[in-house]
Amino acid sequence: MNIDKIIARQAAYYANDAQLFQTRGSILDLSLPKFEKYAVCNLRGGIGKSTLTFNLAYDSQNILAIDTCPQGNSTAFFSGGQAVTGVTMYDALLPYTMPRMSFPSNIALPVENYNQYFEGHNSYFVPSSANLYEFPTLLEGALAQARNIPVVREAERAKVQILESLKSLIERELKKLEVSRVIIDTSPFFSGATQLSWHAVDALIVPVRTDQQSVDSLELLLDLLGNPNRAFMRAMGDAGLSIPKIQMVVVTHCGWSTAPGARNEPNNQTKIYLKKVKELISKNMQHFTTNDPDNHIVPVDDFLGSGRIASAKQIPIKCLRPNQSFTINGQQVEVNSSVEKCQKQLSFISQSIW
Ligand SMILES: Nc1ncnc2c1ncn2[C@@H]1O[C@H](COP(=O)(O)OP(=O)(O)OP(=O)(O)O)[C@@H](O)[C@H]1O
Ligand SMILES: [Mg+2]
Repeated sequence: MNIDKIIARQAAYYANDAQLFQTRGSILDLSLPKFEKYAVCNLRGGIGKSTLTFNLAYDSQNILAIDTCPQGNSTAFFSGGQAVTGVTMYDALLPYTMPRMSFPSNIALPVENYNQYFEGHNSYFVPSSANLYEFPTLLEGALAQARNIPVVREAERAKVQILESLKSLIERELKKLEVSRVIIDTSPFFSGATQLSWHAVDALIVPVRTDQQSVDSLELLLDLLGNPNRAFMRAMGDAGLSIPKIQMVVVTHCGWSTAPGARNEPNNQTKIYLKKVKELISKNMQHFTTNDPDNHIVPVDDFLGSGRIASAKQIPIKCLRPNQSFTINGQQVEVNSSVEKCQKQLSFISQSIW
């Protein structure tokens, strides 16, 4: 598998982003279709879903960010680590599985009221709740009830209403908030709110960490998207609901060669996984938004200390400066000098997807 173009693109972007980016047909032009609504998703933990959701939302502005993961890591980012009271994603989804419950209003919160770095961003978030751990069971129960409705057409309509619940909830919120973009953080599991988010978005952003388990989870995700015997397609049946395509695989935790004379060359581990990812994408092009695998792979460096600081202090990576120092649990942690490279990589993703 040849990854030269993917590497050369990164080098070109560091050299001169703004100018090259505007040249159509240049190596930096991924020619990706643009969408408004994305879910950040892969079926593995600790690969960067919540971190990317937060940082891409920061870059975008005018966006609704939704945390569907019961762990609530992106909720902590958006809320600046504060406890959030009020309506959660669980409360908002519950009425769709329990017909007599009323729908809560005003579920989205202005991020700037919680996280100072979002001041003036016109961005909102819907917090998650640990109750979402129980949501898969409720969803299954509701779908089973829908299937038991004796009139076929009504059964079908009830099922679609449940599967598109998050989609209609988002549409309602977007109208009220007057923003058009959406980014959804998902849990490392498929069932429940992740399943609903696949029906709610235009496309997926899939982080894959440079390890074999992450590549395996990409393979599983591809199978779920396309295999009629797997839960996603099986639940949908003949309902003809849309299936999201993958816009981008973000290869996270990449490292670069420190050998003398090496410039912008990935280290061996990163190379191996970039190749594996490309191979997998090449075999599954039908699930991507274009038919060129090189368009869909973007490496992002390991955030190192910046990642730790960003998580502990809920600071967007874009707001960190090299060598700034923070105290975390009584320990001094420095922003690594490569943070500027990570910032450029995040800009490249944003400019390519929105
Ligand atoms: N390039 C990178 N992209 C994203 N995260 C990175 C990167 N490099 C290092 N990290 C670190 O990796 C960790 C990823 O954690 P994160 O909570 O975002 O993962 P997750 O996929 O949401 O996990 P979970 O499935 O448990 O919700 C963070 O500590 C983050 O700072
Ligand atoms: Mg997460």
